[in-house]
Amino acid sequence: MKFFIDTANIEQIKEAQALGILDGVTTNPSLMAKEGITGYDNIMNHYKTICDIVEGDVSAEVIAIDFDGMVREGEALAALHPQIVIKLPVIAEGIKACKYFSDKGVKTNVTLVFSAGQALLAAKAGATYVSPFLGRLDDVSTDGLALIEEIRLIYDNYAFETQILSASIRHTMHIIECAKIGSDVMTGPLSAIKGLLNHPLTDIGLAKFLEDYKKGN
Ligand code: G3P
Repeated sequence: MKFFIDTANIEQIKEAQALGILDGVTTNPSLMAKEGITGYDNIMNHYKTICDIVEGDVSAEVIAIDFDGMVREGEALAALHPQIVIKLPVIAEGIKACKYFSDKGVKTNVTLVFSAGQALLAAKAGATYVSPFLGRLDDVSTDGLALIEEIRLIYDNYAFETQILSASIRHTMHIIECAKIGSDVMTGPLSAIKGLLNHPLTDIGLAKFLEDYKKGN
């Protein structure tokens, strides 16, 4: 399973990259705003900075909600750096734009996916990635992981090549359950990624090893 970090925070991206396990980055307008990155030029420069830090795919979201605007923004984003993936909302215009870009061999990430039907259309349009938001489904008392399972089943039935990018990951168990289901990618916060390391027996065991070493030296 690929590990993407879901942030526009440069320090966190660098920290995840330094761990040696990072396969890419996802961003969205809210994550950009959270870091105080506003204005077209600043946003474009920020994407370039991120691409210079990581080696994998970097999802950059369009703001337009009409086909022409999505194509215009997507082309500008794709021209920024070869690692950029165009992130498009799963609305009719977004599906059309996804097909337009996939026909041209430009990578896409269809986002804001909350149903199997939306994921099916994204795959039909040739999306590189589909982003079901599992945490936001959990927030409204709906099983987010069940959606990942449904999409996995449908994509496997027809050998769709679209990769399931489980998004809106909130904690370590989301990551582990996604791995069990066979999600191709997960994107989550640094806290959830680093949280996978935590185990009290590891801490106790390490302290004991170091203590015993000191006794013998
Ligand atoms: O990648 C999607 C993500 O940014 C949404 O996460 O935590 O805002 O639901 P969240």
